[in-house]
Amino acid sequence: MEKLKIEGGYPLNGVVRITGAKNAVLGLIPAAVLCGCVNTLDNVPDIDDVDQIVSILESLGANISRKKDLLIIDTRDQISYDCSPYEEEIGAMRASYYLLGALLGRYHKAIVPLPGGCAIGDRPIDQHIKGFEALGASVSIKHGQVMMEADELVGTDIYLDVVSVGATINIMLAAVLAKGVTTIENVAKEPHIVDVANFLNLMGAKIKGAGTDTIRIKGVDHLHGCEYSVVPDQITAGTYMMAAAATGGNVLIKNVIPRHMDAVSAKLKEMGADITSEGDGLRVIGPEHLKCCRVKTLPYPGFPTDLQQPMAVLMTIADGNSIINESIFESRFKYVDQLRKMGADITINGRVASIVGVEKLSATRIAATDLRAGAAMVVAGLVADGTTTVSNVHFIDRGYENLEENLRSLGAKIERVDV
Ligand code: EPZ
Repeated sequence: MEKLKIEGGYPLNGVVRITGAKNAVLGLIPAAVLCGCVNTLDNVPDIDDVDQIVSILESLGANISRKKDLLIIDTRDQISYDCSPYEEEIGAMRASYYLLGALLGRYHKAIVPLPGGCAIGDRPIDQHIKGFEALGASVSIKHGQVMMEADELVGTDIYLDVVSVGATINIMLAAVLAKGVTTIENVAKEPHIVDVANFLNLMGAKIKGAGTDTIRIKGVDHLHGCEYSVVPDQITAGTYMMAAAATGGNVLIKNVIPRHMDAVSAKLKEMGADITSEGDGLRVIGPEHLKCCRVKTLPYPGFPTDLQQPMAVLMTIADGNSIINESIFESRFKYVDQLRKMGADITINGRVASIVGVEKLSATRIAATDLRAGAAMVVAGLVADGTTTVSNVHFIDRGYENLEENLRSLGAKIERVDV
C-alpha cells in the first residue's frame, strides 16, 4: 500500500503548470463515440480516471492510443452499446454515466451499469433520465443496469430541476444527433460544460448557449473527427493556489484561465493572499497569517464544491471563526475527523462547518476519504508541525497528475512510500 509522507512547514515557491481538466476530459472521451471517426485530444492529464474510461471504451470496441498528453480515439468500428460485462469498472467511477448519452445518441440503444464515484452524498441520475425520456427513449433500471432504447430521438424542451453538471453534459451528448431542436433550461455553466460543447461543435454539432443558463442544440445528421485541446483544470489550479496560500509561499500557477478562478481568488484574497494575473498564469503569495472567511459552495461561477475540502484546511489555521456552507453534496464533510486528529477545531451542523482557527496543525497519520479530501490532506500535511502520512493515495491518483513531483519541485518535502 502506498502512502504519502510529508514533512510540513516549508513554504512553496516556484512555478507549476496545470494539466487539462479531469471533469472535462471525462466528458470529451465518451463524446468521441458519437462521431464514429478519429479524434485527437491534446492536454489530456495522466490520471487514473482517464486510464479507467479509456480501458472501458477499449473493451467496448474503440481503438485508443496515447502519446504523452495526446489521446487519439478511433471509434470507426462498431462500439458495443451493451456495457453490462464491465459493471465493476463502470461502477468504480462517476463519469462512466456519459456512456449513457453517447451510446444512446449514436445507437439509440444503451445498457450501462449505474455509475459509482466519490461517496460525498446522494448522487441520483434522475435528471439525466428525465432528459433521455424527453428525447424519446424508454428507460428502465433492472439489476443495476440502466437500459435505454428509442426508435428515434427527437429534440424537445427540457427543464432541469437541479443544476447538474452530469445531466447537462449527458443530455447534450444524446441530443446532438437528434432530429430537430432541443432546449435545455437551468443547465450547469462550469468550464467543462463549455469545453464539451466546444468539442462537439468542432465535430460539427450545432450547440449554442453553453456557459449560460440555457443550451440550444440543433440536431445534425452526422459528426466528423477533429483535434481539440482540453481546458485547464480549474480544480487542480485551485488546489495549488490553496497550497501556496496556506504555506505562505509564492507560486506562479501557469496554464490557467484566470476568469475560471475568480471565486477562489476572491476568497483567498479575503484570507490575506496576494493574487495577480501573469499572462496565462496566476501568482499566489500567501500571507504570514491567514484571516478567517465564509464560503458557500455553489454551481459555477460560485465557489466550487470540489475545493471546499482544501479550503477547510486553510480555515483550520486562519485567525478567527470561519464558516463553510456546503450546498451541493450533503456528505462532503467526511474528511473532518482526519483534520480533528491534527488538532483542528471543527463543528459540523448539517451542511455547515464552523471552523475556529488554531495556531498550528500537528502531524499524524491521516487518510484520504475521497479524491478532493485527499488533496486537502496533502495541504494539511504541508502546513502541519512534523511528519504526516496520508493513506488511500489511490483516491488522489484518480484526479491529480504528478502531485508529489510538482510539490517537490516547489520545495515541499513529500515522498511516496510503499508500506
Ligand atoms: C460532477 O459530479 C463532478 N464529477 C464532481 O466532481 C463535482 O463535484 C460535481 O459535478 C459538482 O460540480 C464529474 O464531472 C465526473 P452534479 P455530478 O450532477 O455530475 C444533484 C470531483 O471531485 N443531482 O452537478 O455527479 C446531486 O445530488 C467530483 O472531481 C440530482 O438531484 O454532480 C447534487 O446535489 C466529485 N439529480 C447536485 O445535483 C441528478 O440527476 C449536483 O450534482 C443529478 C444531480
